[in-house]
Amino acid sequence: MRVEVARHAGVCYGVERALKLAQEASEQGVDVHSLGPLIHNPQAVAELRDKGVEVAASLDQVDSGILVIRSHGVDPEIIHEAVDKGLDVVDATCPFVSAAHACAEELANGGYSVVIVGEEDHPEVEGILAHAGRSALIVQSADDLPAKISARKIGVVVQTTQSLSRLEEVVNALLPRVTELRVCNTICSATAKRQLSAEELARKVDAVVVVGGHNSGNTTRLAEICRAVNPHVHHVETAAEVEASWFDGLESVGVTAGASTPHAQMAGVIEAIRGMN
Ligand code: F3S
Repeated sequence: MRVEVARHAGVCYGVERALKLAQEASEQGVDVHSLGPLIHNPQAVAELRDKGVEVAASLDQVDSGILVIRSHGVDPEIIHEAVDKGLDVVDATCPFVSAAHACAEELANGGYSVVIVGEEDHPEVEGILAHAGRSALIVQSADDLPAKISARKIGVVVQTTQSLSRLEEVVNALLPRVTELRVCNTICSATAKRQLSAEELARKVDAVVVVGGHNSGNTTRLAEICRAVNPHVHHVETAAEVEASWFDGLESVGVTAGASTPHAQMAGVIEAIRGMN
């Protein structure tokens, strides 16, 4: 059986950087906490815990040592509070997310009413909102725009993992209704590349195995995309979940993984599948 791996799969630049910074922090010989699970991957979080990186649900749970800010970024107030508490802050905010923060701030300072295209409850969007000024409007689609827009200058910034079509939809709806529109396209291409290559792969193989946390939104989305074009899709976290019966009589299987899936985890699954040949 042929095993084919998606052209773009597995951990993205921002997550890999966050994992490296947390690993380095764990070698400092002090207490280390990440504010929230560092990534949506239970195995990677457990591995970090074994190395001494605990997960704190809030700043109140951390009294000393190093605080690692995850790749989603946070409200800068939280970083100020952590520094005031005497914590050593390791900021693992992904540089693409920092770019969205900078755009949001620039738009707000330039007198634009800011519209954020993104998911309201997502931690990344909360961080962008904090940089855009609390009066910014969060929309997930053009339908969320208010019937009446009084601002003449609108600035748009977008959550890094949104699709370009979503951004275009909101921009097209705003354009006829304002006199000035400035758009910062802060979408990071990692998600789109993984989605496109997953679909491409799913179309040409007999079955697909998608590797990544069951709690990972981006991995689950990859599985959905594959399922839309291929009925034989299995979402697993580790090699232990792979079953030989899935591949009975098949000629090819494709493997892909979400942006929060460490390469070693994907490699383990590939090895397990090859061992079942
Ligand atoms: Fe950063 Fe893009 Fe990954 S924003 S965390 S490189 S998905």
